[in-house]
Amino acid sequence: MQWMLKILAITLVIFTTGCESKHNDADAKPIATQVPPADATLPTEFQKGETSFNSNCMVCHGIKGAGTDKGPTFLSRIYHPNHHGDQAFYRAAMQGVRAHHWEFGDMPPVEGMTREIMVDIISYIRWLQREAGIY
Ligand code: HEC
Repeated sequence: MQWMLKILAITLVIFTTGCESKHNDADAKPIATQVPPADATLPTEFQKGETSFNSNCMVCHGIKGAGTDKGPTFLSRIYHPNHHGDQAFYRAAMQGVRAHHWEFGDMPPVEGMTREIMVDIISYIRWLQREAGIY
């Protein structure tokens, strides 16, 4: 009987600590090395998005969205589609963002950005996020 209680206690400990570390992950500042595995080949359907991302967003959001000292990584649970849906991406690119999550400063509106270009950029960022295991 006692061994059953022991097993129950151990299982409970494993479950609760597992939960806690998940929450910590979500709150932690993401690390720059959190990029898709090197062997992840970019499907052709996302190539247009990557090109546009690289010329419009990479300077601040980093290669493969991993972040720089000028802007946050998108490979953080903060930018999971449930927290920052596609609408937040359109808004950010067209209207800019007032600094609120980080201390990088404001994001200015991206000059010449259109919804059509953003469609491809968002698909590319979501692909990066899936490859990095965000969702
Ligand atoms: C000049 C630097 C810079 C460029 C270029 C830039 N961003 Fe940003 N972006 C930032 C910074 C800084 C933040 C963080 C603001 C905060 O939350 O503190 C940010 C935040 C965001 C957010 C989060 C918005 C929110 O609601 O919290 C999205 C989405 C985003 N950027 C998308 C893009 C996309 C897409 C591009 C390219 C089309 C882009 N950014 C180009 C600097 C930049």
